[in-house]
Amino acid sequence: MDKLNIVVFVSGRGSNLQAVLDNCQSDLYPARVVAVLSNRSKAGGLDIARSRTIPAIHISPKHFDSETEYETELTRHLETFQADLLVLAGYLKKSPSRIIRQYRNRIINIHPALLPAFGGEGLYGRRVHEAVLSYGCKVSGATVHIVDEDYDTGPPVIQECVPVLDDDTPESLAARILLVEHKILPTAIRYFAENRIQVQAGRVRILKID
Ligand code: GRF
Repeated sequence: MDKLNIVVFVSGRGSNLQAVLDNCQSDLYPARVVAVLSNRSKAGGLDIARSRTIPAIHISPKHFDSETEYETELTRHLETFQADLLVLAGYLKKSPSRIIRQYRNRIINIHPALLPAFGGEGLYGRRVHEAVLSYGCKVSGATVHIVDEDYDTGPPVIQECVPVLDDDTPESLAARILLVEHKILPTAIRYFAENRIQVQAGRVRILKID
């Protein structure tokens, strides 16, 4: 089977990366992680990659004098690894516009809420769940979406609801949503690998298998 080459970007602990890697262990899963990149040298996701002998690269815009130099180096890495799909799994940096153009409709992100609610710049991690709880929402969930030039604005690929319980804390809600994230992110990657994603008029359709 010709597998889809994915590069995963992480900023933190990497549990979504772990979920993807667990799926990749099956010969039947049509994708493989060819590299993990992080803007943080101490990201747990880099350790997970190293423990599986997957190239783990620390690259941050701070290391470069200009955005152009950063973009060039990032592009060089992605080309070296022959990336087909870029997966942002808890990655807190905005992707440079050149990368978004070059990988148009081939970059996805996982967000721990039902976009377009509770997304956008500054709404990440615990803050998302705090905002959901303080609004009094009865449902939240997780979204895998295509990445465009803005924060959390690209069209959804998969969304799944999670109930909000009366006694939820940001931590308990986050934990319930994380279980769903670990399921829908590998599923979305599989749809890409199976060539079933069609982006038309800014919306994603998932084609059925013949
Ligand atoms: C997840 O909740 C994801 O939705 C968000 O950041 C968190 C990353 O968690 N974008 P992990 O690093 O995958 O454990």
